[in-house]
Amino acid sequence: MFDIPIKILKFLPPELAHSFSIQALKYLNLKYDNINDPILSQHILGLDFPNPIGLAAGFDKNAEVISSMFSLGFGFIEVGTITPLPQNGNPKPRVFRLEEDKGIINSLGFNNKGILKAKKNLIKFKSSSNKNRIVGVNLGINKNSTDSINDYLFGIESFCNLANYITINISSPNTVGLRDLQLRGKIENLIKQVVLKREKIDSLTKIPIFIKISPDLNDDQLRDIALISLANNIDGLIITNTTINRPNNLLSKNKNFKGGLSGKPLFQASNKILKKMYNLTNGQIILIGVGGISSGSDCYEKIKSGASLIQLYSALTFSGPSLISKIKKELVDLIKTDGYKNISDLIGKSV
Ligand SMILES: Cc1cc2nc3c(=O)[nH]c(=O)nc-3n(C[C@H](O)[C@H](O)[C@H](O)COP(=O)(O)O)c2cc1C
Repeated sequence: MFDIPIKILKFLPPELAHSFSIQALKYLNLKYDNINDPILSQHILGLDFPNPIGLAAGFDKNAEVISSMFSLGFGFIEVGTITPLPQNGNPKPRVFRLEEDKGIINSLGFNNKGILKAKKNLIKFKSSSNKNRIVGVNLGINKNSTDSINDYLFGIESFCNLANYITINISSPNTVGLRDLQLRGKIENLIKQVVLKREKIDSLTKIPIFIKISPDLNDDQLRDIALISLANNIDGLIITNTTINRPNNLLSKNKNFKGGLSGKPLFQASNKILKKMYNLTNGQIILIGVGGISSGSDCYEKIKSGASLIQLYSALTFSGPSLISKIKKELVDLIKTDGYKNISDLIGKSV
């Protein structure tokens, strides 16, 4: 039923359509899609995931519509990116649909209402009957930050007793210098301080820490990140954020806008990185596969390429909210047809 408004929203500029959607989702009283075949459930890092499909960061930047997004059938939701202070992001227009390619280019630049506001929203969500639902918080840095590490540490301090996991986002292409934090000298220091902070705040429960990486890293950079993550007990890697590359076969006239490309044109590139990381980490770190997923068979391929969990965003804007239930059904069929007992049996099978 909600796929009809999606057709109308397509006539609006994408950022306006997104704002309308957020406002509508705040007030719609959606019924939960709680149908999760047990074949899709996994216990990972102390958390019970009813299904492996998560909402990727960027849709609910301020933790405003978590409840409604769960109603669509997601197994977990990642809110953010959240920065310590509110900020407007880059000048508009900064989101472009590539309709023919089923892709999106965005150069938003961490527009968000800041940690205080998001924290309030998350407290409200968790204090209703939603304690067991898995919500991750994706952290970033302010554009004018003079101490990026401190921005992340403040984020951890703010959310570690509230979120189910924390994502350190060092891969958005729209904040100058951010992606350099992925490079050897910088990432080691960052990860060490992040892990130390977690230890200091909460040495017993240890909230899982994920690092979100770019699809544009070379083999040496991937190896460095794998080794540093293994050595410092990072719990998960989210693979991947958007790409600054443009595949040659893009059709849309919007293909040359500046920013990060997501959706279908990112699928193969992010899978390649996923497989490499699975090999580099010997399957010892949980991988979350993101990039271009729009069907059950896309999920299947990501999981076979090494992902334990997956996330999506762009396909939701093209296909509408019934997509998640559809993907879950397709995924269950694929798993049963191939004779697996649980989704976890296929992790890394094609690497
Ligand atoms: C409009 C838009 C905004 C995004 N904002 C964020 C963000 O704030 N933080 C982040 O880590 N990723 C952000 N992303 C990236 C997504 O989380 C995801 O990694 C990427 O879009 C690939 O998945 P997809 O192809 O399913 O969209 C954004 C993506 C889009 C399309």
